[in-house]
Amino acid sequence: MADPKSPASNSEISRDRLAELLNEDLSREYQAIISYVVYSQVLSGAQYMDIAAQLELHAKQELDHALILSRQIDYLGKMPAVTPKPVRTSKNAKEMLRFDLDNENETVRNYRDRIPQCEALGEYAMAEQIRQILMQEQDHQIDLAQALGEEVPDVGGGPRRRTPR
Ligand SMILES: [Fe+2]
Ligand SMILES: [Fe+2]
Repeated sequence: MADPKSPASNSEISRDRLAELLNEDLSREYQAIISYVVYSQVLSGAQYMDIAAQLELHAKQELDHALILSRQIDYLGKMPAVTPKPVRTSKNAKEMLRFDLDNENETVRNYRDRIPQCEALGEYAMAEQIRQILMQEQDHQIDLAQALGEEVPDVGGGPRRRTPR
């Protein structure tokens, strides 16, 4: 049996706790919608035109994610959250992209945890929906890392955590 204190163990997760965690995810999606709506429009300079168009697409995908999560939270018998996580702003294009990449990294880490948590409760369809979202979040990470001229960061989480120590 896994150590119940280890983050890898989802044996003690309840439906209520899962709903709480999904509400945290939803607040992160709202944050992402707001930052992509704003950043996609204020990014200026010829070198940022491609990424600005991509960010506009991200904004729409984040709205889809928020809708999916709200539906799952309602299905778990809870009220979806209405508050975004704080949105950081900057006049500097590189800094804006950096904030977005940081947020996407955090989002990916969380969804990688969420999938086994859903599965631990037998919520396989929910796990599948979050997998679909995770695929898009990883694309967002790649878009941002490329725009910054960086490697996609290894954010860990997911399967790595299940490696026996
Ligand atoms: Fe999202
Ligand atoms: Fe995203």
